[in-house]
Amino acid sequence: MKIVPEVDFFQPETLASPFEFYEQAFHCHPMVKVSGHDVYCVFTDKLVKEVIDRIEDFSSDFGPFTMGARANDPEINAIIEAGWPFVKTLVISDPPEHTRYRKLVNKAFSKPRIDRLEASIRTIAERLLNQATQKARFDFVAEFAVPFPVEVICDLLGLRELGVETVKRWSDAILEQSGGRGLIDRERELHIAREILAFQRSMMDICNARRAHGKADLITDLVNARVEGERPLDDAELLSILKQIMAAGNETTTIALTRGLLLLIKNPDQQSLARQDYGRIPAMVEEIVRIESPPQSVWRVVAHDTVLDGAVIPKGAMVMARTGAANRDPAVHSNPGKFDIQRENAANHVAFGRGAHTCLGNMLARKELTVAFETIFETMDEIQVAEGSDLTYVADLVHPYLARLPITFSRKRERQAISRRPGL
Ligand code: HEM
Repeated sequence: MKIVPEVDFFQPETLASPFEFYEQAFHCHPMVKVSGHDVYCVFTDKLVKEVIDRIEDFSSDFGPFTMGARANDPEINAIIEAGWPFVKTLVISDPPEHTRYRKLVNKAFSKPRIDRLEASIRTIAERLLNQATQKARFDFVAEFAVPFPVEVICDLLGLRELGVETVKRWSDAILEQSGGRGLIDRERELHIAREILAFQRSMMDICNARRAHGKADLITDLVNARVEGERPLDDAELLSILKQIMAAGNETTTIALTRGLLLLIKNPDQQSLARQDYGRIPAMVEEIVRIESPPQSVWRVVAHDTVLDGAVIPKGAMVMARTGAANRDPAVHSNPGKFDIQRENAANHVAFGRGAHTCLGNMLARKELTVAFETIFETMDEIQVAEGSDLTYVADLVHPYLARLPITFSRKRERQAISRRPGL
């Protein structure tokens, strides 16, 4: 049996910018064990797909890991217990439970439903950009990439009345609780537990209101969701699914927008190709998510001792399948670090995962990114990173990100006066 090399992959510099590490990995170690952790990382397209596809060996049922580091802290527990019980749905469940949940929510994310959202997505993008571009420079992250997906999710779920700031706070708390931001101190964990309780209470009020009087929103779809012979989702299941939609839908899209804009600034030839023909924007979006891959990995837990790439992986270990690496594997993508919006096989990526757990929101994310970049092109020319800006990526286990992206630009006409491209 092969011995898996141990590597200190969790060094902040590596997590902030893992791409050079991936290049070495393709040549010398397609799988490593992270020093000091019971975590294995796989990097190649072949191994990443194998881990995702071998559902019986590499499980998504890692419920206890998502409870936070201090699940035994009495004060935190008291807050958690005041809320609804933890249940394993969607991204933290395996078939057959996963199959049932997925069937129940698929319809709410169907193509016709997402297509119907296009006009409101465009209105949000136009309003935010019209507002931000009143100044000579603005922080693209704070003024567009963060609020845009949060506002879209507020509309999708029918949460406008709660306010975008509240929804964003909840979404960050949910992400932090599930370990998305690495280790957190006790005070923060207490704060997170309180935020999540507030989230649960507000959501349950809304779910009950929608049960009584439905509206044209996703919460109404979810409370009414039925698959032949199946019972409807109960309260705890609804909350678990809503939590995941919040956590999975905001930060990923924020990162794709920010890293995508930076790619366009750094590659003016590719930007001008997209500006010449907006029909190229959907392919450009595929290339952005391939090359930048927010998140950089999906997690699995080893269900029983098993063999991967000729090495034994013990039961209970965690596996990080680095989708961000697979999407830059030279065996699949030629010159993989090059941003090429006309790349023929750009859509052949695993940025949205694959198989049973393929991103539920992938059509929504693609729509949001396409509309956002169209609106960016229609609103601003000559976009540049503002002088003196610090573009250091913040290290994160799953989502390395830019905290700020200050930009300068020349402003185009007011959005109302801009002519729409045919067909939109
Ligand atoms: C660029 C944006 C996005 C990217 C790159 C992305 C990526 C992913 C990936 C890789 C997975 C698979 C996880 C796994 O296999 O363990 C996933 C699952 C999921 N995503 Fe996304 N996502 C994005 C946007 C969204 C949005 C906008 C939503 C919803 C509003 C969403 C909701 C979900 C949910 C609920 C799952 C779990 C699906 C399941 O387990 O059946 N995502 N996403």
